[in-house]
Amino acid sequence: MAYKIINGKEISAAVKERIKNEVEALKVKGIGVGLAVILVGENPASKVYVANKKKACEELGIKSFEFKLPEQTTEEELISLIKKLNENSEVNGILCQLPLPAHLDESTVINTIVPEKDVDAFHPVNVGKIMIGDFDFLPCTPAGIMEMLGFMNIDVCGKECVVIGRSNIVGKPMAMLLLHKNATVTVCHSKTKDLKAVTSRADVLVSAVGRAGFVTADMVKEGAVVIDVGMNRNAENKLCGDVDFEAVAEKCSAITPVPGGVGPMTIAMLMQNTLTAAKKQNNF
Ligand code: GUN
Repeated sequence: MAYKIINGKEISAAVKERIKNEVEALKVKGIGVGLAVILVGENPASKVYVANKKKACEELGIKSFEFKLPEQTTEEELISLIKKLNENSEVNGILCQLPLPAHLDESTVINTIVPEKDVDAFHPVNVGKIMIGDFDFLPCTPAGIMEMLGFMNIDVCGKECVVIGRSNIVGKPMAMLLLHKNATVTVCHSKTKDLKAVTSRADVLVSAVGRAGFVTADMVKEGAVVIDVGMNRNAENKLCGDVDFEAVAEKCSAITPVPGGVGPMTIAMLMQNTLTAAKKQNNF
């Protein structure tokens, strides 16, 4: 089957262009847009993500405030920094890169960020708002996926959508956003019996597992749309997703590559949330 590549680089560029114009228009009105990014420790993947977020801010005229804290930072120190950022009117969004070192409690840290500046949409207030469909921010990765589907004119209404993975960051909110668009949603996880039987029903299959080669061609329905959230290294240390791309693509109507698929969209949506935060904080 001839398949379409869902090009996250191209789609995110369009989203970022729109954001850049809005940021410029706000600047003319004397309103700056700022994002604080906190990185604790030396996780190599996190360092790359944080660097990419900073670069995107620079591209779009968003002021970035970067805080690189040592591995042994105490919870008190981190919370004290977040509280200061909560009060800083130049900072519209606050993001603390996860995972945190083991001695720091993620939910305590996340819950310290005021919901109005929680551009990850991880705070329980924002999670609850997503659940009832009355939200200000959407979590960046699922929001990026919805944006991609929209761009490709893929309507999920009434379709069988299967999400593999039930994390708070991707799987659970992804299911919720698909549900808001009237999809029939199934969430699979490590305890799912006969995964293949479930995934084979999917018109839209989203994989957020974190294992290279996890989704094989026999798990995918002919003509399915496949979204690969995985960010893994294969045996040759090459960046790859969860999906066995070459074999699976042949069965798909559309598929996201890794790299160049979901990743760039996630960052674009973070920029979108930061802009939304700035607008709301300035009563726009
Ligand atoms: N670690 C992996 N993905 C994310 C994300 O979207 N936000 C934050 N804060 N940390 C992450």
